[in-house]
Amino acid sequence: MYAPKLYAYYSEILGKLFERMPHLRRPFPHSIFTATSINFGPTVTWCHLDGGNIPFGLCAIAALGLFDYKKGGHLYLWELGLVVEFPSGGLALITSGSVHHGNTPVQPGETRYSVTQYCAGGLFRWVAYGFRTAAAFLRRDPLGKRQFDAALADRWQECLNLFLKASELAADVRAVFGVSE
Ligand SMILES: [Fe+2]
Repeated sequence: MYAPKLYAYYSEILGKLFERMPHLRRPFPHSIFTATSINFGPTVTWCHLDGGNIPFGLCAIAALGLFDYKKGGHLYLWELGLVVEFPSGGLALITSGSVHHGNTPVQPGETRYSVTQYCAGGLFRWVAYGFRTAAAFLRRDPLGKRQFDAALADRWQECLNLFLKASELAADVRAVFGVSE
């Protein structure tokens, strides 16, 4: 609901993947994401970048556990200089492949866990390369691979266009899901 165009992009590309390889299963049938990681604690999540995630994609982080979210468990986004209160039961959608992030510690005796859903960028790349690796693409079609790589110069703008503009939310939701906001 917060990134309908991105959802449609995931649906289109991953749809091709699941059509070609019908034995593949998502961790949760009604989730668009293809991978899930569970942090059972008790350590904090240190500042990191999930370089394997699709860089313009979203990562859904659910915070769980018993802790005072005013005193710990904050989500921080390093390059943005943001520290955000993140209570248990909350869900954050972040671009985990392009912004360093982590959590602040919780108080002694408290617990904090998290469930994270995301998509590996390699899946999208594999589909875009014609259901093959970069090496196989280059070997079988060197000219095609060169043309593909040359087109990447403008790719970042296409990716930015997948993100939400508040003024376009209602129209995007209608266009992608066929319902109003
Ligand atoms: Fe992460």
